[in-house]
Amino acid sequence: MNYGSERVSKINLSQVRKMFEQASPSAINLALGEPDFDTPKHILDSLKCALDENRTHYSQNKGEPVLRESIAKKLDKDNDIKVSSDDVIVTVGASEALYSSIQALIDPKDDVLIPDPGFLSYAECVRLAGANSIPVKSSSENGFKTTVEDVENALTENTKAIVINSPCNPTGAVMEKEDIKAISDLATDKEFIVLSDEIYEKIIYDKKHYSFQTYTDNAVTINGFSKAYAMTGLRVGYCASNPDIIEEILKVHQYNVACIDTATQVACNTALTSSQDCVKEMTNEFKKRRDLVVNSLNNMGLDCIMPDGAFYVFFRADNPEEFVKKAVKEDVILVPGGAFGEEGKEFIRLSYAQSYDNLAEAMKRLEKIA
Ligand SMILES: Cc1ncc(COP(=O)(O)O)c(C=O)c1O
Repeated sequence: MNYGSERVSKINLSQVRKMFEQASPSAINLALGEPDFDTPKHILDSLKCALDENRTHYSQNKGEPVLRESIAKKLDKDNDIKVSSDDVIVTVGASEALYSSIQALIDPKDDVLIPDPGFLSYAECVRLAGANSIPVKSSSENGFKTTVEDVENALTENTKAIVINSPCNPTGAVMEKEDIKAISDLATDKEFIVLSDEIYEKIIYDKKHYSFQTYTDNAVTINGFSKAYAMTGLRVGYCASNPDIIEEILKVHQYNVACIDTATQVACNTALTSSQDCVKEMTNEFKKRRDLVVNSLNNMGLDCIMPDGAFYVFFRADNPEEFVKKAVKEDVILVPGGAFGEEGKEFIRLSYAQSYDNLAEAMKRLEKIA
């Protein structure tokens, strides 16, 4: 008997997870997509307090009003996006925001443009909606930054939406303001929706982050607390958009998860309304690690551009699959770039969300096989 539905049985389980499973306890795992830092103490204290106050009941489906108010203020201040707290839904990580948006907005006849290379979930979420994904190829010559021309080349008559991710997993690329503005104008003119995954917004070095929703109403801003506040396991994200789009997304969110847990929403409100020094400190540390890794790889003769954001380095290797296997033997876990799409096939993703010392040791181990 085929247990899986036709739709679901076509979906692949994550290759990145497979890489973790191969790791021995002594291995240095550079396949991880999560900050190695502890969640800042003031956020944890706020969570503990909320539990002591029995904040363990349902919240509104869209999320706690006070948190949504803080998110709306954050979007205004950081992103120049004007939304009311009613135009925000608090979700189970950015993952649920992405899944619910795609389920709510996409029909099986639709095409959805997704970045190539890009985060694994995009293609599978589109497939789960029974729709067709079209890769938007970004070139290594342009540092993998998606341009308006890349999008124009991929557009089809049936394009309902595009998923964009800047700063980008797996490449660390940060898109230019001109392209963000031009793609936003295109979305307004050609009537498609930009699903803008901004989860790495705060992990950005010497560049400014821009949002699509600043320039077009046809955008959903997806963001969350996992990466900026090192709270991946607490599972909080959000989406914001115009009221018509939010109403559709709410239907999926409501019947899927009802709401996210209330105590954690209190802690997220503390994260947004307290000093942002913890975010800056983590980003400064990531920058030191990025410099170490990029310089070491380049010294080994491995072609690697300096990424402007996120905590990944995407470097070229002659035979990436073979290189990754050899690295496993040296107790270093990496992910072959092909896991992120056709355009990633000549590359390897290295996550530097590991301590500086571990990264320095990993570089010594990689030097033996480079
Ligand atoms: C590009 C991208 N989007 C979304 C997510 C999911 O984030 P969350 O933990 O908020 O669900 C990740 C996690 O690795 C990611 O890399």
